[in-house]
Amino acid sequence: MGADGQDGGDPERAPRRQLYGRSKGKALRAAQAARIDTLLPQVSLDLAALTPDPAALFPIRPERLVLEIGFGGGEHLAARAEAEPDTGFLGVEPFLNGVAKLLAAIETRGLTNVRLLRGDGRDVLAALPDGALDRVYLLYPDPWPKRRQRKRRIVDEAFLAALARVLKPGGEFRFATDIDDYAGWTLARIARQDGLVWTARTAEDWRRPWPDLHRTRYEEKALREGRVPGYFRFRRV
Ligand SMILES: C[S@@+](CC[C@H](N)C(=O)[O-])C[C@H]1O[C@@H](n2cnc3c(N)ncnc32)[C@H](O)[C@@H]1O
Repeated sequence: MGADGQDGGDPERAPRRQLYGRSKGKALRAAQAARIDTLLPQVSLDLAALTPDPAALFPIRPERLVLEIGFGGGEHLAARAEAEPDTGFLGVEPFLNGVAKLLAAIETRGLTNVRLLRGDGRDVLAALPDGALDRVYLLYPDPWPKRRQRKRRIVDEAFLAALARVLKPGGEFRFATDIDDYAGWTLARIARQDGLVWTARTAEDWRRPWPDLHRTRYEEKALREGRVPGYFRFRRV
């Protein structure tokens, strides 16, 4: 099923690329719906405003810019944004209920350093200028484990090329997955991608979460169910 909206404002607007997975879950509670109507327009990420200077989206110019693609319920993004007030966080997620959850965190924690889009992470990458980002997170992307569905995975050659373009030299792409096959899939493609190198020196480097990782709902579930995540850091060279 394709997602039906890009920014929470216009469900008729067709996504530019095919999105797989849920775009809506159970009906929003009244407070959540009210935040979609009133808070989302104030913090929404305007793709047209990303060029030439995405830092200008924020009321106070951030020292760094970070993007989280597919933030789910926004647990990680909100925690990082609170911990790094000097950093501007861009978040993108097609699932309306996840957007509503992140909006609640933005409101209750008074976060001013987050801008978000209900839509497709690939559209944000395409709209960013070269070398704009210090870090990109992709935490537990939809696994699409069946062979015939793997082409739906967000990590592909075009996605990695776009990441290499938008990261600053020295910037990082951080990727977590609990699906062994998705780890191998990504490592094989990174090895062929100019400009991105895997930083691990020992197995501990990818078996241990990076120190500032805040666990997401999906990660908690994976751990409860006995799956073992891998945590991968790739540097833009
Ligand atoms: C398995 S969930 C993980 C969510 C979250 N990162 C976490 O760890 O809890 C994958 C998420 O990616 C989102 N997603 C799928 N395709 C996407 C795309 N093209 N751009 C951005 N997000 C996407 C889904 O809506 C879903 O919320």
